[in-house]
Amino acid sequence: MSATADVTTDTHLLPTVAVSTVSAPISPKPGSAGNSPSVLGGGTSGAAIDARNVSAWFGDHKVLDRINLLMPAKQVTALIGPSGCGKSTFLRILNRMHELVPSAALAGEVLFDGVDIYDPALRVTNARKSIGMVFQKANPFPAMSIAENVLAGLALTGVKAKKSVKEDLIEECLTKAGLWAEVKDRLHQAGAGLSGGQQQRLCIARSLAVRPRVLLMDEPCSALDPTSTNRIEQTIAELASEITIVIVTHNMQQAARVSDNCAFFLASASTPGVIVEAGSTSQIFGSPTDQRTADYVEGRFG
Ligand SMILES: Nc1ncnc2c1ncn2[C@@H]1O[C@H](COP(=O)(O)OP(=O)(O)O)[C@@H](O)[C@H]1O
Ligand SMILES: [Mg+2]
Repeated sequence: MSATADVTTDTHLLPTVAVSTVSAPISPKPGSAGNSPSVLGGGTSGAAIDARNVSAWFGDHKVLDRINLLMPAKQVTALIGPSGCGKSTFLRILNRMHELVPSAALAGEVLFDGVDIYDPALRVTNARKSIGMVFQKANPFPAMSIAENVLAGLALTGVKAKKSVKEDLIEECLTKAGLWAEVKDRLHQAGAGLSGGQQQRLCIARSLAVRPRVLLMDEPCSALDPTSTNRIEQTIAELASEITIVIVTHNMQQAARVSDNCAFFLASASTPGVIVEAGSTSQIFGSPTDQRTADYVEGRFG
């Protein structure tokens, strides 16, 4: 880990020249600044994530330019915009996965309840434990049972638990992920034997087992049928009463249905991704201030 941590530490200090804020914060920042690094992951419910002047590069290709976005605690923030505008890169920056790419660099800050997750004093595993990720393609561990999949993250984060505690956790996480009723009689069968939508909910359950305060979801429904999509959206709505959710989606109806806030990203061949506009979902869909936002949410491009 130290090699990747060093990359981040160095590049984190890249200059962000002439900062002009391209997007307004999407709602007032909760009074949470001033926490010490030790609180990262120490809470029990959703934390706000505040990206400040975040820029990102792959080699010398700049893909994000000074992104400012507050993702409020216990709300759902949707990241929308055409392919290639940097949404996935931004999401990976929020839990320190961007630095896993050898050529990757970044600048700016990511505050988690006021604490910079790129603070060199913080352990990267703490950030990833507190800020979970669900990917586009469901990726349960194929050789593991449903139950083992749910618990898989515990071993990675060094948590040890008694059998009864584990059983409770399996039920709790599968229930929260909306999967318990469907799998409770076959917990020891392979996770790979589930349908695509069930596998995605299993991955959500696996993320929840380490008790994240933020869940990042990168197009979690794009490979799913409408019924499974609907089930995941229900799950998102239920989870949002406890944790903070940031979801990338290309489905505008989905963004409108599940999110409280939206940020519209845009890039061109010659310019890196920026946030054109961010605000409450009702404002972005009902009265966008930028014509490009209106064109995008109404399906005229992208
Ligand atoms: N691992 C990588 N190496 C080099 N370039 C990458 C990598 N991942 C993404 N990119 C580039 O970064 C830009 C943003 O990509 P991405 O964040 O995946 O956009 P989105 O999720 O909005 O489709 C694109 O130009 C893409 O080609
Ligand atoms: Mg993407």
